[in-house]
Amino acid sequence: MIRIAIDGPGGAGKSTVAKEVAKRLGIIYVDTGALYRTIGLWMLRHGVDPKNSDGVVSSLGHFTLELRYIDGRQVILLDGEDVGDSIRTPEVSMAASAVSAIPEVRAYLLDMQRGIAKENSLIMDGRDIGTVIIPDAEVKIFLTAKPEVRANRRYLELQSRGSDTTYEAVLAEMNERDKNDAERAIAPCVKADDAFLLDNSDIDFDGTVDIIIKRVRKCEESLEEQRKKHTAYMKTHRWMAPLVRWMFHVKIRGAENIPASGGVIVCANHVAIRDVFVIASGMNRPLNYLAKKELFKVPFIGGLMKKCGAVSIDRGGNDVAALKTAIELAREGCAVALFPQGHRNPGVNPVDTVIHNGTGLIAYRSGKDVLPVCIKLKKFKYAPFRRVEVIFGKVIKHSELGFTNGGNEEYRSATEKIFDEIVRLGGYDKLPSEKYGEGGRQ
Ligand code: DC
Repeated sequence: MIRIAIDGPGGAGKSTVAKEVAKRLGIIYVDTGALYRTIGLWMLRHGVDPKNSDGVVSSLGHFTLELRYIDGRQVILLDGEDVGDSIRTPEVSMAASAVSAIPEVRAYLLDMQRGIAKENSLIMDGRDIGTVIIPDAEVKIFLTAKPEVRANRRYLELQSRGSDTTYEAVLAEMNERDKNDAERAIAPCVKADDAFLLDNSDIDFDGTVDIIIKRVRKCEESLEEQRKKHTAYMKTHRWMAPLVRWMFHVKIRGAENIPASGGVIVCANHVAIRDVFVIASGMNRPLNYLAKKELFKVPFIGGLMKKCGAVSIDRGGNDVAALKTAIELAREGCAVALFPQGHRNPGVNPVDTVIHNGTGLIAYRSGKDVLPVCIKLKKFKYAPFRRVEVIFGKVIKHSELGFTNGGNEEYRSATEKIFDEIVRLGGYDKLPSEKYGEGGRQ
């Protein structure tokens, strides 16, 4: 199943491009703007001011809205009537923009949109598809163009339908709608962090479609590659995990907090080299971690590391490659292991070190949630080994990390929030703020 989210301002050509992509890939096309337009149309027909949110909200139960697919074409039935092109007028555009800023209207349409996305391979266009409706879409595109270019396209389209509007009027209306859509408090039209920005001001229709199809093909190839790697990893995991748990006396807690799929940053304190194996032994999905390329040359260990999901990085004296690789892996849907401490700290208090901010940066750039993990050493009376307790905490949502525009201060505070949770899971004392601060390192 492939889900393509395509967001962006009006007039960028989302719907025509999406229709063609859908045709070529044999998937359905969902035009979510048409749903808001249909609600706007109902309000105009019934004399309800689309800007009056009380009036709009109290009208929501007074009509039925149905989305159907007839010969692959989307049809919207408003009280049983196919609304067709009557939702494509400038008045309805403005009404749609106004009603779409009302939280209850968005909530009213949410389940309908998510329901379709759950069941089908599709390309869905709108304003919040990649950020709210299908945040885990396989491909995310933010399609835009300069306002003058978009206004001209819309003007030509309206003219071809017999409208006598002027270019200036279309541009003014488009600027107002862009402002409403981008500045509204709920689900504003913004690019998802992990969306591909495609400005097609100077690219024609075919060129735009080709770029999107290429991205979809690349994504399909990488999904296939991932599926193969997943199978190979789980084959080794089946015998390695019990062995590791037995060898190191591992006790796993909170396994129910591990997300079953999707990109996630697995963040733990670092006690010993075995940490990554110990964490992986408690996870029923592949865990990727970054290891120096020299380690892969070590006989047996190198091969085993590869099988266990390690990714070779050529650090060449800096950490940029490691950061980039971790971000890409998480974006591709992998679970990526990180140790904010950077170095092992096997002391009495295994969390008491300086914490690097690279974790915050990776969380910000990947747009993914964080799974906090605490590795705790326990005394074990019958063996020379100490028992290792691995505690998986509840996922910290990306939206809870307080990111706005990124930057060292935000990375520092996100890292602090994540590591605070790791410390709390282990029952250790909170680290003083001065411990967080080495910007951009991992
Ligand atoms: O894409 P469009 O021009 O048909 O959208 C009509 C309006 O609906 C637009 O002003 C923004 C709003 N909209 C939205 O808020 N969220 C969506 N997913 C799709 C459209």
